[in-house]
Order: sequence, then C-alpha cells, then structure tokens
Amino acid sequence: MSGTAAEQLIEMDGVEKVFSVRRKEGRLRRVRHEVRAVDGITFRVPRGEMVGYIGPNGAGKSTTIKMLTGILVPSGGRLRVAGIDPARERTRLARRIGVVFGQRTTLWWDLPLKDSYELVRRMYRVPDARYRDNLARCVELLDLAPLLDVPVRQLSLGQRMRGDIAAALLHDPEVLYLDEPTIGLDVVSKAKVREFLREVNAERGTTVLLTTHDLTDIEQLCRRVMVIDHGRLVYDGRLDGLRAAGEGERTLVVDLARELPPIEGVPGARTVKVAGPRQWLVFPAGQSAAPLVAAVAERYPLVDLSVREPDIEDVIAKLYAGGRGGVM
Ligand SMILES: Nc1ncnc2c1ncn2[C@@H]1O[C@H](COP(=O)(O)OP(=O)(O)OP(=O)(O)O)[C@@H](O)[C@H]1O
Ligand SMILES: [Mg+2]
Repeated sequence: MSGTAAEQLIEMDGVEKVFSVRRKEGRLRRVRHEVRAVDGITFRVPRGEMVGYIGPNGAGKSTTIKMLTGILVPSGGRLRVAGIDPARERTRLARRIGVVFGQRTTLWWDLPLKDSYELVRRMYRVPDARYRDNLARCVELLDLAPLLDVPVRQLSLGQRMRGDIAAALLHDPEVLYLDEPTIGLDVVSKAKVREFLREVNAERGTTVLLTTHDLTDIEQLCRRVMVIDHGRLVYDGRLDGLRAAGEGERTLVVDLARELPPIEGVPGARTVKVAGPRQWLVFPAGQSAAPLVAAVAERYPLVDLSVREPDIEDVIAKLYAGGRGGVM
C-alpha cells in the first residue's frame, strides 16, 4: 500500500439490511413482509474526515450506524471499520469507536455522571493519565463541571447529550458515530456541541460520521455529505454540490407598484406565487438574473427586487422526492 494514500477507516461495499416483519393483513392473517432498510450501500470514509449522513425518517441511517458498530449484522455486502468486521469482532471494535445515539443515553440512569465515566474507564481499561486528560478536556469544553455529581436521570436533555458525547470519547476512539446528537437541543447547546465536535475532529483527527435532521449541523461541520433515501445513497459529495444535484432554482422576488395578475412572458422564469403587489419568479440556479429583471421592468411597474439563492432544505427535499421513484 502506498504511504501517501489516505487510509480508509470505514468501508462499505454493497451493504444490505433486510428486516423480516410480520404484518397484520385483514382481520386474522399475519403476513411476512420484508423491509429493505439498507439496500446496497457503498462508500468509503478516509481517516480524519467528518461526513454528514442525512435522509428522511426511515431512510436507513440508524440501521447503517448499528451495522457499523456491530449491533446489527448485515444481510449482505461487505463492511469494515478500521479493518475490522464489526459483526464478527464487536468487542475488539468497541475499543476503537465511540457512539452517541441522541434518542437514548448510554449512561447509567441512576449514577452521577462521574461514576458513569469511571465505569467507562474500567470497561475500556483506559490508562489513568490518558483518562484524566480526556476527562479534563471534555469537562472544560462541554461545561460539565457543575454536572459531574448529578445523577443522569436529573440532567436536562442538553446536559445529558453533552455528558453522552464525553462518555463516547474517554477511550480516544478513532471513529465517532453520532446519530442525531443535537436533537431537541436549544440553540446555545447546539452551538456548544458543534464547536466541540469541530475541535475533536481537528485536533485529534477523529473520523466522524454524523447523522442529523438539522442541516445547520452539516453546513457548519461537514464538507462532504451523503444522502440516503429508502436504503440507497442518492448523493455523495460536497455540500455545495448538492444544490446543483438537486437542480436548484433561484428565486426573483419583485415588488410591483400595485397588485397585478401573475407576471407572464419572462423567458426562462415562471411565476410561482403572488401576494399583493409582491410576486415570486423561479429560474434555474445557473442562469443570470439580469435579463429577467430587464424583461420584468420593461413591462411592469417594478419598485423593488431581490434574488434568493436555492434553499438547501428545498434542494434536499427535491432530492428525496427524486430517489423515491426508483424504489416504488
Ligand atoms: N429492528 C427492526 N425491525 C424491523 N424494521 C426495522 C427495524 N429497525 C428499523 N426498521 C425499519 O428500517 C427502516 C429504516 O429505519 P432507520 O431507523 O434506519 O431509519 P432512520 O433513517 O434512522 O430514520 P429516522 O430519521 O426516523 O431516525 C424503517 O422502515 C424502519 O421501520
Ligand atoms: Mg434514526
């Protein structure tokens, strides 16, 4: 292997996960039914990268993460994390990965936070000096000092999440999986968590796979984003490339001198909304707005205007809708 080639820390090749569920059909019949939660996914994540993993509810994100930790065994394909097959060597892998599931805590409910950390230390046999260093650093950056003696059950959601993230990092994992780490957090807590993750990634070179429904997390943390829908990857690339992939549209918002019927006859643009004297015209993201403005101004009493860039949320919604066609 070449010394300069980036080491691929996560490798997925055609990975599948099929759940067999029994569903009620009619009044008495129960029918076996297959859910293809992950339907042939292939990607690589090099060491040190922080990648966003997004998709609508039920897309297969959590299932992917569970396979990457060894909690779930794939139905097909090949999977390696740090060269380890997670399903076969879950315990050996556990020393090298950290996981945070935003929806449920991995801490001990009745114990004070610091006792939970002590258990983590023993579980992973973290050397004393390293444990002290890591804990001190997490306590400082995540503001945990006032919380260390509080039983986990008494922590607020945001406090608990910070506590969980620290627990996942005490044994210096090379890979960190975060499944919705900012879910339900207020703006300040979100900012704190993001800042911390950025620092861990930059300073430790920790490889991060981040699942979230908050696109601001992705915009602030990840250059690369993977979009999954119905168990399939529908996009893998730079975040700014998403706009083009989703056939983004820009919007020209014009204020006319008075209320008028929808503007017509502007080449390349179509009016999508009218509210009083204000009208919205959409046009392809790659096109210049100048000729449109000229065409409108020529025939309409134009008072004011602005151009809006494609909203990343809209682009992704479109991408989701596009991925659906192939599956049904
Ligand atoms: N243990 C299971 N048994 C049966 N079906 C399951 C199981 N776990 C997940 N599924 C199904 O697999 C699909 C993918 O679920 P998954 O939890 O991976 O989605 P997700 O992308 O994490 O969604 P969300 O954004 O809501 O968290 C869903 O249709 C879900 O109902
Ligand atoms: Mg999920």
